[in-house]
Amino acid sequence: MADLPTSSKSAEMLDTATIRRIADMKGKYPEARSAVLPSLWAVQDKLGYLPTWSLEAVASQLGLLPSDVEAVSSFYSMYFNHRPGRHIVQVCLNVSCGLRGADELLEQLRESLELDDEGNTPDGSFTIEGTVECLGACGGAPMLQVDRYSYVDLTPETAVELVQGIRAEDGRRR
Ligand code: FES
Repeated sequence: MADLPTSSKSAEMLDTATIRRIADMKGKYPEARSAVLPSLWAVQDKLGYLPTWSLEAVASQLGLLPSDVEAVSSFYSMYFNHRPGRHIVQVCLNVSCGLRGADELLEQLRESLELDDEGNTPDGSFTIEGTVECLGACGGAPMLQVDRYSYVDLTPETAVELVQGIRAEDGRRR
């Protein structure tokens, strides 16, 4: 296991287990920069999202600039800078899906779910991400993912039905 690095004020806000995970990752790569992605996962696993202070903490632990870490976290859609809803809905807007109505589908979802500025539904059930690139199911465009599952050949109406169905299923399980 790699030595724990010196801490900064923001790094002190991370729990010991997460700091150890980051240190372990750092020890696995020849360059600390290569450990940014798994380190961000470690923090997001713990906190559910990546608040600004946590990016500074990761940078401190890895000996990088905060801007280096922020650039990575803001590039990938699977990292969240706000606390997401219970389910993550990712609408693909790349070429195949775009040509087959993904924009309308996303708009319909946004309207029907009354999202706030961060893309969350008021009840915290869903976060809608509309900035993802190709999700690898172009033959079924337009498509979206809910958590780790893909749904293809959607229309704006069936996309809304899908999400409402998941919400209803959640309600029955409680
Ligand atoms: Fe949407 Fe490929 S363009 S899945």
